[in-house]
Amino acid sequence: MCGIVGYVGRQDAVPILVEGLHRLEYRGYDSAGVAVVARSGLQVHKAAGKIRQLSAALPKRLKGTVGIAHTRWATHGEPNDANAHPHTDCSGQIAVVHNGIIENASALRAQLEAKGHVFRSDTDTEVLAHLIEAADGADLDVAVRQALMAIEGTYGIAVIDARHPECVVAARNGSPVVLGLGDREMYVASDVAALVRHTQQVVYLDDHEVAVVSATGFRTSTLDAKPTNKSPSQVQWGYEAYDRGAYPHYLLKEIMEQPEACERTLKGRLDTQFSTAHLGGLNLTARDWLDIRRIRIVGCGSAYYAGIGGAHMVEALTRVPTDAEPASEFRYRNPVIEKETLYVAVSQSGETADTLAAVQEVQRKGGRVLGIINTVGSTIARTCDGGIYIHAGPEVSVASTKTFTSTLIAFALLGLHLGRIRDLSPADGKRIISALQAIPDQIRAVLRSAEQIKAVALKYASRANMFFIGRASSYPVALEGAQKVKEISYIHAEAYPASELKHGPLALICPETPTVVALPHDDLYEKTLSSLEEIRARRGPVIVVTNPGDERLPAKVDDLLLVPPTDPVLNPILLTIPLQLFAYHSAVALGRDIDQPRNLAKSVTVE
Ligand code: BG6
Repeated sequence: MCGIVGYVGRQDAVPILVEGLHRLEYRGYDSAGVAVVARSGLQVHKAAGKIRQLSAALPKRLKGTVGIAHTRWATHGEPNDANAHPHTDCSGQIAVVHNGIIENASALRAQLEAKGHVFRSDTDTEVLAHLIEAADGADLDVAVRQALMAIEGTYGIAVIDARHPECVVAARNGSPVVLGLGDREMYVASDVAALVRHTQQVVYLDDHEVAVVSATGFRTSTLDAKPTNKSPSQVQWGYEAYDRGAYPHYLLKEIMEQPEACERTLKGRLDTQFSTAHLGGLNLTARDWLDIRRIRIVGCGSAYYAGIGGAHMVEALTRVPTDAEPASEFRYRNPVIEKETLYVAVSQSGETADTLAAVQEVQRKGGRVLGIINTVGSTIARTCDGGIYIHAGPEVSVASTKTFTSTLIAFALLGLHLGRIRDLSPADGKRIISALQAIPDQIRAVLRSAEQIKAVALKYASRANMFFIGRASSYPVALEGAQKVKEISYIHAEAYPASELKHGPLALICPETPTVVALPHDDLYEKTLSSLEEIRARRGPVIVVTNPGDERLPAKVDDLLLVPPTDPVLNPILLTIPLQLFAYHSAVALGRDIDQPRNLAKSVTVE
């Protein structure tokens, strides 16, 4: 996924565009560029590498009151100066920035080259600039709509033309585009993060919508020019929520924000009178719930792992068969969608294309989908039939942390809500409610042991391989722990159900390869201990995350990380926190780019 920004108004666009790019850098950071209409005409500057490289290369005298900009996560054409956006047409008057994939780009390119157009990059996006040039529309928006009619694929675009310095034309299909309403100025962006410093009033474009944005306002229409009505909405978070503050990295800030994030996820949702959870956005009656025979969860990356953890929670509290699968594989297995099955899509950004496609597949086949989403107003949230916003706040670091634990809290609330409609007793409801209420302070207790976790992380940061194991509801904890270590420290880490170790992976256990064991004091404690013994017998170092109280354990392990005991259903929430800090400190010790790990993006809006 990439980030696009646009501005038209009375101020100099360049600093606004560059600051907007910095706010969107988590969307892609392998190259960037800016285009403004200056007195001398269209000026385009782009460079491979981080945005700081681009801003250092920008001529000081570059000025203009209308412009567009882009930060890239390469899909077509390697990250270099020529392939960086914006892309221009042959006349050098039109500039385009694009987030998405044009599937029929090579066919269109061949047609345009046959008509004499000269291409200067290997990207799919450049065809758009030439298509707009080739369109015989007097107005820029007419030309843009004609060009968009010819392409197949996904896009979030912004376009400027030096002959029309009064406006920016934006459009979306599949990739998010939001307009920001200012005083005699307007903003365009892929995400509100790029414009909250300037305005809290925004308009989300829908698929196949085109917007003409000028300093005095905007108008929207469909691709075939039918006007559409849009009502502005208020952004939930202020500018400071997107700021790193005194933290060295967004990742550490977001790990430390988890108590407050979980408090926001719980806020107003615990109903102590009926010992249940109040979830107002599900659009499901108790009657509907009684018809539900199965629950299937889909998501990608950490959202998928949170889904596996959520499946354990929901099934334990409702006795409804619940499982999870990767959204990226879902529709390609031609899934059987059943009326009595409820689908739940999990996504922090609400923009991940694979998860959106899974939601659309279920709905296309007549199924019902709930969303557990962080980003308010995001595409998946607006596509689902109902859902739960987790209100964890903006998550900027590419590796997700606070949205993982807040998503687990949301699943516990969903399980409580449905369980109390079915046969979960009031006493059990009360038990879960008081355990949930204790979680934020228990997380604070775990975060207070950050220095001890750091010491353990530094001890193993130089290892090339690591294993993470856990049983049943602790297996998704192992998966997420391994994911974090892979994502940010680039150490090869694999997660296994502890019981599976002896059926293969045990062959890799040796003194060089440590194993992290998620070992809560639940009914599988002794069983998991035997897996631990198998590792020790092969002199594999063992790091255990567990609850206090077993005097035998210190002698059996190399390192012990303790978390407070909670209800077994909620164990994964607390057990994950030390693994986040473990991964963070390993990555810092290895000098990794913590918030923008190589090859990754915060959410991938292309399939
Ligand atoms: C990946 C991110 O691109 O997408 C992961 O790097 C994330 O951190 C995954 O878990 C899914 O993103 P989302 O926004 O759908 O939860």
